[in-house]
Amino acid sequence: MKDKKEIIKFFLDKSILISKQIIEKLAENDVDLNQFYENIKNKIDSDSFLILDQHLEEFLVSTRKDINWKEYDKSVVLAKKGNDKLYDKFTEYMNGNEEEKPIGNKDVKIIFSYDEESKKREVQDFVYLFNKRFDSIEKILKNRVELQNLLSIKRIKQKQDKDNLSLIAIVGDKKITKNGNIILTVEDRTDSINVLINKNKPDLFKLARDIVADEIIGVVGVNGENIVFANNVVWPEIPSNKEIKNADEEVFALFLSDLHVGSDNFLEENMQKFLKWIKGEVGSEKQKEIAKKTKYIFIVGDLVDGCGIYPGQEEELVINDIYKQYDECAKYLKEIPSNINLIVCPGNHDAMRIAEPQPQLYQDFAKSLWELPNIHMVSNPSMVNIHSSDNFSGFDVLLYHGFSFDYYVANVDGIRMNGGYDRADLIMKFLLKRRHLAPTHTSTLYVPDANQDNLVIDKIPDFFVTGHIHKSSVSSYKNITLICGSCWQSKTPFQEKVGHHPEPCRVPIVNLKTRDMKIMRF
Ligand SMILES: [Fe+2]
Repeated sequence: MKDKKEIIKFFLDKSILISKQIIEKLAENDVDLNQFYENIKNKIDSDSFLILDQHLEEFLVSTRKDINWKEYDKSVVLAKKGNDKLYDKFTEYMNGNEEEKPIGNKDVKIIFSYDEESKKREVQDFVYLFNKRFDSIEKILKNRVELQNLLSIKRIKQKQDKDNLSLIAIVGDKKITKNGNIILTVEDRTDSINVLINKNKPDLFKLARDIVADEIIGVVGVNGENIVFANNVVWPEIPSNKEIKNADEEVFALFLSDLHVGSDNFLEENMQKFLKWIKGEVGSEKQKEIAKKTKYIFIVGDLVDGCGIYPGQEEELVINDIYKQYDECAKYLKEIPSNINLIVCPGNHDAMRIAEPQPQLYQDFAKSLWELPNIHMVSNPSMVNIHSSDNFSGFDVLLYHGFSFDYYVANVDGIRMNGGYDRADLIMKFLLKRRHLAPTHTSTLYVPDANQDNLVIDKIPDFFVTGHIHKSSVSSYKNITLICGSCWQSKTPFQEKVGHHPEPCRVPIVNLKTRDMKIMRF
């Protein structure tokens, strides 16, 4: 542990006043001060005294450089006089919370869509990715009131006396002891420790059974010798006070996924029925009214069946050419009236790498889709905002195809024993609670982005929409509408083998004015 006075003097000599939290952080982690200063000094462009507080430190170790330090110093002075508007703006920017400038028209704005960065990935990129993930989730957890007396694991291990404390850590391992208790091995930036969850706390034990490797949790408990006895586990979660938004006019959004065009199981007749309805040619008066007022159709991946996705797939294809599969798909989507916005992300059957985040569908393979005038291509995952106006902020929609779902159906008791593949809603709630689309390292394949973990659910959506399991569901969780699209392919031999129960040709529909949901069958 470094001497705190020495730290204060070191920075004072460089005209930097340092806040109490940063002193403690540097002291506790035995940080090399020269190295730390080297890392931040080229980002400090101020000739006046600088106050290094937690916000500023977070910023300095991040990648942002475009800040006017004189203005920042001014904002600190103003804040001390009671005017903290400017200071709040700075801290918001430093924390990366400021609204990113969306692209797109007023009906559909792309809030986040991953652009592939072409570079050779190295092992170090995975380390960066996990650090970024830890930072993001830790920031959410730190807002939880349950986590009082938060300590690093290193500090907990040094403690002589038993105390009530809490920690934030990533789960490395989970075991059941001979006595039937759960032991987690958890780790933070400083050290690792075991956490015991006693079976005699049945409510907590039940929740803890669903803890998976690599998720980041908060633990509240009492320390023992190299162990923490848990009284509570806290997940990053969705705040309970999220408002439910309503459009001021009646307008509908539809959710499709897993078309699998090109497969010999593709249900063309049913697709034709859907297209006739959306064009207003068939259906009851009420149904025709819905079609007329539909302004958004989401297609959440697997537009085509692909080629070479699994061994022997060619036997199950009627179109054995990826370009022709997309041409055929475009032929159907072209039928949809062009005043309806089509928002499309890829899935694991589309013609691209399977590792997430998957960029937009490639223009060369899916050229005919890109040519549709009403199409908005986004990555998997992505976030779009729909239906905003001058006096309405619109709905934020999180799209994720759902490749990680298989892992959680197989490995989480709370999902597997309550319906598994038939309960997309349980999987989606599980992920929202953890604020991550694939918390366990092996639950999906991914390309590490050293700047951020794109699978963290940072911004809370109004809609979370998925596909992949070929069975539609609509539900709600803490005012977030959860929708899983169905599919347009009948049951394949593979699905038969792995126990899927697809329900094809169903279309979840949401009335954006009332937020009522229903499923139409075709
Ligand atoms: Fe699929």
